[in-house]
Amino acid sequence: MKSACGPYILAIETSCDDTSVSLVNQEGYVLCQVTASQDLKHQIFGGVVPEIASRLHAEVLLPLIDTTLKNKNISPQDLKAIAVTNRPGLIGSLIVGVVTAKTLGQVWGLPVYGINHLEGHILAPLLWDDLHEKNELPPFNWLTLAVSGGHTSLYLVHSLAKYQLLGSTRDDAAGEVFDKFAKILNLGFPGGALVDQAAQRGAKGRYEFPVTKLDGYDFSFSGLKSAADRLVRQIPNLEFENNINNLCADFQSAVIENLFYQLKKAYQDYHPQVVMLTGGVSANSELRVTVKNWAQSKKIPFYMPALKYCTDNSAMIALAAWKKIELGVAPQNASLIAQPNSEVGDFI
Ligand code: KG4
Ligand code: ZN
Repeated sequence: MKSACGPYILAIETSCDDTSVSLVNQEGYVLCQVTASQDLKHQIFGGVVPEIASRLHAEVLLPLIDTTLKNKNISPQDLKAIAVTNRPGLIGSLIVGVVTAKTLGQVWGLPVYGINHLEGHILAPLLWDDLHEKNELPPFNWLTLAVSGGHTSLYLVHSLAKYQLLGSTRDDAAGEVFDKFAKILNLGFPGGALVDQAAQRGAKGRYEFPVTKLDGYDFSFSGLKSAADRLVRQIPNLEFENNINNLCADFQSAVIENLFYQLKKAYQDYHPQVVMLTGGVSANSELRVTVKNWAQSKKIPFYMPALKYCTDNSAMIALAAWKKIELGVAPQNASLIAQPNSEVGDFI
């Protein structure tokens, strides 16, 4: 039976450029999530500036935690634990979150769980709230395509303690390629959502972009990135101005074909119980419809996060911490450290 009752985990996510705080119960119900975006501060540089990111996290994190608890009338004594992203990410940004979580854990006498950001993304399709229906935990195995600005990975999830990486990108991540293409077109930053919007206004079929179909389950986007750069520089100015939306439509279609090709191949080879799509790029309107329609036509149970839980968010970090508690994993508290990198499947 679904329940929105406490206790809640207070979660903190500061791995990149969004400061996010949330309260989530054991069933994945998000009572509240507040995210402070830094997009406007990084926009003029065309990408995230790590030093600026960590300073901004330090400025807003404590006030965000304070407001979140006060708004929902939750006192620290009502909390089950604190969850914080401690890997992978920008080291300065991670340190702000980890030091804050450890300090609050010490002061409030609460257990603190350090969570791998990618495990958060993998669980994000199971988050729900007052506007989004709850999903029951689906049977294993799950085939999960996690596509973000830093990662493009296909996982076979055997259980919440056993994640097998089938393939990942050999060069750029899909979100990174969206962002670089938006930069080439001068659309702004972060570019994925802007390319998506432009593509919806454009028509496909005018421009040809290469799609790399590797053996196995790895991805590669560097050929597409170079070809896109060359193509845009060759197009005469007037044609370019009149075809930005069409360029986005064909470019987006090439990224999706690349992702979809490996996802379908892995499905055919492994026959998982369910398919999941997650990460920032899972907010892409065409990718969502493409995978959903395919899954429906094949009668494959399919899960993807609500839009607000696709891009970086703290609610997914809380849910991952609840799963650690269910598995009996000990909290780290004093031993917890921020780590810029993480090993494959290093989720426990
Ligand atoms: O998961 P996320 O917020 O951060 C990382 O863990 O990297 O993903 C951010 C990425 C960015 O590259 C952004 O451009 C991309 O997700 N993104 C999109 C869309 N919304 C965000 N890419 C394509 N279409 C979108 N609608
Ligand atoms: Zn992410």
